[in-house]
Amino acid sequence: MPPYWGLGFHLCRWGYSSTAITRQVVANMTAARFPLDVQWNDLDYADAKRDFTFNKKSFKDYPEMVRDFHSRGLRYIMIVDAGISSSGPPGTYKPYDEGLKRGVFIRNATGQPLIGKVWPGPTAFPDFTNPATHEWWHDMVKEFHEQVPFDGMWLDMNEPSNFVEGSQHGCPNNNLEHPPYVPGVFGGRLQAGTICASSQQYLSSHYNLHSLYGLSEAIASHDALLRVRGKRPFIISRSTFAGHGRYAGHWTGDVGSDWEQLYYSIPEVLLFNLFGVPMVGADICGFMGDTSEELCVRWTQLGAFYPFMRNHNDHGTRPQEPYTFSPPAQAAMRSALRLRYSLLPFLYTLFHRAHTAGETVARPLFLEFPTDPNSWAVDRQLLWGGGLLVTPVLEAGQTKVSGYFPAGTWYSLAGDSTIHSKGQWILLPAPLDTINVHVRAGHILPLQEPAFNTAQSRSKGMALVVALTPDGFARGDLFWDDGESWETFERGDYTEILFLASNDAVLSQLLRASPHLDGVLLEAVTVLGVTSPPRRVLANGAIVSDFSYRSDTQVSRRSQGEAMLLPWSLRPNPSPSLVPGAAPALPTLLGLVFPLAAGW
Ligand code: NOJ
Repeated sequence: MPPYWGLGFHLCRWGYSSTAITRQVVANMTAARFPLDVQWNDLDYADAKRDFTFNKKSFKDYPEMVRDFHSRGLRYIMIVDAGISSSGPPGTYKPYDEGLKRGVFIRNATGQPLIGKVWPGPTAFPDFTNPATHEWWHDMVKEFHEQVPFDGMWLDMNEPSNFVEGSQHGCPNNNLEHPPYVPGVFGGRLQAGTICASSQQYLSSHYNLHSLYGLSEAIASHDALLRVRGKRPFIISRSTFAGHGRYAGHWTGDVGSDWEQLYYSIPEVLLFNLFGVPMVGADICGFMGDTSEELCVRWTQLGAFYPFMRNHNDHGTRPQEPYTFSPPAQAAMRSALRLRYSLLPFLYTLFHRAHTAGETVARPLFLEFPTDPNSWAVDRQLLWGGGLLVTPVLEAGQTKVSGYFPAGTWYSLAGDSTIHSKGQWILLPAPLDTINVHVRAGHILPLQEPAFNTAQSRSKGMALVVALTPDGFARGDLFWDDGESWETFERGDYTEILFLASNDAVLSQLLRASPHLDGVLLEAVTVLGVTSPPRRVLANGAIVSDFSYRSDTQVSRRSQGEAMLLPWSLRPNPSPSLVPGAAPALPTLLGLVFPLAAGW
């Protein structure tokens, strides 16, 4: 289960070459009123690109910078490479000295640490299949964290990646290095871009363990972070294997800043969700090469629906932070970000389902509509859970986009259009400031007023979007906890509410209560698909006078009736707020559309 803040917006680039520049980036985001939860640094922070060090000149006030971010409700993550610099004189670099002493590095044919070459120059590679390596890694993480109180880890170059083939001295000539069949690997040889296949790890040969390198590093990092911070770890790794999603997430590596890569990110995000790694995203606006304003807007719109939303950029390329673009482009990005922040309670609840039931968060259409052959090949759209369909623009110069809508009723999230599909491709308007998002009839989504980070948004008012089926039914749920404690679900320290709409009423049932929702109010309810103007609206039994109704988006006519909002809790003396003891809520609307785009 990821921490709640991990669902917010992350900003990174290679080339934030000082604390002053990194601080300025955060200041610019704030000044331009963009939400931001996590600021990142690439290798720039490190002294000579070595893990667990920082540059005492350009990053002199690094610890203070991270503490400053914390005081503004932000979190901080820095890169950690797999290779450990091995070339300094003894006594100058503790991670290597201590690693040597404890025997944590992968060994070559002569039993010595295998030395390759990565960003800091000559490097040894920790063998994360060795329990002693986990202890050593924990100690390095702990010591660095005592200086710089970072919140998560970014694991890079962990295939493991190597700039020389095999090692500085090549590899032995044996059948592990040159097996009878070599799969279609990078470079055509097993050692290309990585370490010798016949090098020795604690558990077995590297030949047998190569693909597990990233997973084993993720496990060690997860355990280290949990011990050091005592809270849910947040880790993003480039290399993964089956089982990785239990420990960490994934970003899709060095994507180019082009439209084709924007498109490919959808099947990649969907696949990783099928692989059990729901926390996944591509570098928004593209990593390699210069982005363009239009591409970056469209990528931010799609990226708002990656489970992991990070804008990251290569060094030396055109800046692509949201505030670097024209006012209309910024407005479009801002509204995509605010849309994501509005939907975070729904997204978090989906992560809870992934954590407890192995469900996908970003979901291909075919998983929800397996009997509809038209859905099988759809790889330009994605669902969030079963209830929200995202149809992004993936080509330059387009202001319309064609999307597949499986049979049923789909409401635009903004409440301004309804699609009754027989299983059809539909052409949707998609001006540059718009990403099409549709709610599937039968679903109820919990939303929250957005803010500039999740520390703020988590205490804002909530809303429900109720998307009725033609016979007036919908359901949904909300999982809520403190957002970062370890195993809240397992310890029962959470709130869970079930929502049900039927017979002209929206009901909520408190399945489990914890104090974490205290003070959070349900401020709005939007019901999509109310086919005739309600005569009366009741909230917790009291008449609501300030509801509104839009007839232009009605679907089909339903029998005359009155809409009614029932108590949040089905317990006696129901409180109108989400949990007993909270301040009184201001239930407002039913039957109607609330202005997602305009208001929030
Ligand atoms: C490779 C990573 O994929 C990229 O994201 C990063 O910026 C560079 N390494 C530099 O650390």
